[in-house]
Amino acid sequence: MLSAELKETTKIIHQLLEKKMVVQLKSVGDKEDYIKVLHLFYSFFAALEVSVSKHLDLYFLPDYAQRRKTKALANDLKFFGIIPLPALADKIFLPEIKNHLQALGVLYVMEGSTLGGKIISKMMSRQAGIIGMCGLSFFNGYEEQTERMWLTFKQAIDQHIIQDEKAIVIQSANDTFIKFSNWFDLHL
Ligand code: HEM
Repeated sequence: MLSAELKETTKIIHQLLEKKMVVQLKSVGDKEDYIKVLHLFYSFFAALEVSVSKHLDLYFLPDYAQRRKTKALANDLKFFGIIPLPALADKIFLPEIKNHLQALGVLYVMEGSTLGGKIISKMMSRQAGIIGMCGLSFFNGYEEQTERMWLTFKQAIDQHIIQDEKAIVIQSANDTFIKFSNWFDLHL
């Protein structure tokens, strides 16, 4: 199954990223620190979303429109009175997205991040004193639907991607993790 291969081949890089993020996120102590985290995700994920939306074949993922959008990040920033800057990550910092398969590899990382998002949300709520769910919509992902949306995503890629196409999706997912990890190092 492609979803299992993706999990396996990105396991180490995910662990490394998770570890350094947790260390860094533990030092978030107020709203200003949290806003920096929102900016970091917004500049990278919004840039990815532009490219993914251009190249994704909706036949493979009909519920794409309902999936988490970086608009949630923009709304979270607006909640704190900040208008998100139009300056997104330059393409030299992003994984290559030139076709549908690469778009799916990127989307694997973006969708999978909703699973860790729940943990990040709890940390930020506790540490930055954010009351209620306002300003946390991105990290709350699909809330109680998160597991279901993740399963549906995995089923879609497992059903539609044939053996010869797998390597491109896997390469793209790994590249996305590396690029995000580098972006994280540059900005926090
Ligand atoms: C504090 C940071 C993070 C924590 C604590 C965290 C934690 C987790 C957890 C608990 C899971 C579920 C693992 C499982 O069910 O087997 C997960 C899955 C995943 N996370 Fe993270 N994560 C973090 C950051 C990220 C980020 C920033 C990304 C992407 C840029 C990411 C991408 C993924 C992906 C793709 C999966 C799915 C793995 C699979 O195929 O099952 N995570 N994460």
